[in-house]
Amino acid sequence: MLTQEQNDALTLVGPGTPAGELLRRYWYPVAAAEELTAEQPTKFVRLLGEDLVLFKDKSGRVGLLADHCSHRGASLLYGRVEERGIACAYHGWLYDGEGNILETPPERNDAIMNSVKQTAYPVQELVGLVWAYLGPAPAPVIPHYDIWVRTGGARRIEWHPVLDNNWFQTIENACDPSHAPILHQDAHSRRAKARPVNTTRGFIDDQTGFEVWEVPYGLMKKRIFRNGEEDEHPLIFPNILRVANNTHIMVPIDDTHTARIDVIFLPAKEGVPYEEGGVTVKYLPAYKDPPDRSHPHTRWTLETIAQQDHMVWETQGPIVDRSVENLADGDRGIALLRRVMRENIELVRRGGGDPLAVVRDPTHPRIDTRWDHDLNSTGGATGAGRPYGLTTGTLVPREVPNIETASTGAGSA
Ligand code: FES
Ligand SMILES: [Fe+2]
Repeated sequence: MLTQEQNDALTLVGPGTPAGELLRRYWYPVAAAEELTAEQPTKFVRLLGEDLVLFKDKSGRVGLLADHCSHRGASLLYGRVEERGIACAYHGWLYDGEGNILETPPERNDAIMNSVKQTAYPVQELVGLVWAYLGPAPAPVIPHYDIWVRTGGARRIEWHPVLDNNWFQTIENACDPSHAPILHQDAHSRRAKARPVNTTRGFIDDQTGFEVWEVPYGLMKKRIFRNGEEDEHPLIFPNILRVANNTHIMVPIDDTHTARIDVIFLPAKEGVPYEEGGVTVKYLPAYKDPPDRSHPHTRWTLETIAQQDHMVWETQGPIVDRSVENLADGDRGIALLRRVMRENIELVRRGGGDPLAVVRDPTHPRIDTRWDHDLNSTGGATGAGRPYGLTTGTLVPREVPNIETASTGAGSA
């Protein structure tokens, strides 16, 4: 149980808030690279409570600027991209990707050009996504997590419907190994062709225990199954769940909205052609009807695991009221996550160095999140940890090269 002040410190994402300052030390995907085209070269982005415009100029450079023009506030979403940047639609003030003002029609106003800068943030492209960094310079690198950088397969991006709730409750779920065999029991029934003992316990008795502990990039969660198997799904701090061959990236849009973007690595199968490094993007339809309303004014479809997860996150409320919760032993992963959050918030607040999972060496080796361990697991009797979109027995265990110097792409601001 938390006080309102403690809850705010963990959840609010705006500039100057405790969690907001911590979250600004990490990169976030804000668009699929394919979204920016010659016909539609701009995209509105809200990230960590800030309103921004992503654009690709006619030289192919991608930039991220504050939405409101520094002149008199019109949105740059409707700006015209040119060779040198983007020109505001209203009076034509021209900005480059660093936020420099290059022209100030109708006159040339050197005083303004030399003293005013449009807020601008760095961007990078990786695994078919454009990533943004809103924190203090110098920006760290996007860490080389195994699923994002390894070769020997292709990737699929799944863009889920926007969640009308705070980011932190989606990540608490990543430290909650008790929910899957109960919330997702129907899916597990279908996979395992088994019936739960009853709907209250679902398949929870297949799990004999779990452990959660800190690792250099976050929190590892291990489930131990009755049939002797184990699986390990880390929470990559602060906002990513790596489960089987998927990473669920939770992007805090603002205090009460979260984007979920999955990056899935599909290892090549023996004898099946594939495009090395290929990325396909899939936009998933709404999980609720009507799609633009929140609980209780909408009704959820609950056929898939993702829909079930999204339903519980949203129905917990726009921001979970943690002053009235009752944590039990099965929630000890959540208690650990909150402690790690508080420690890292405090580290940033006192200027004590980089928080957990921030990486600065661009040549760092691939970070192993124990994905191979999962690949070779059937996820216990219910298949809870089974690799995404693959059936046990079709995997091709193989040595894949470790990309020691994986590029984090082009398109910098
Ligand atoms: S408001 Fe943008 S140029 Fe005037
Ligand atoms: Fe779940």
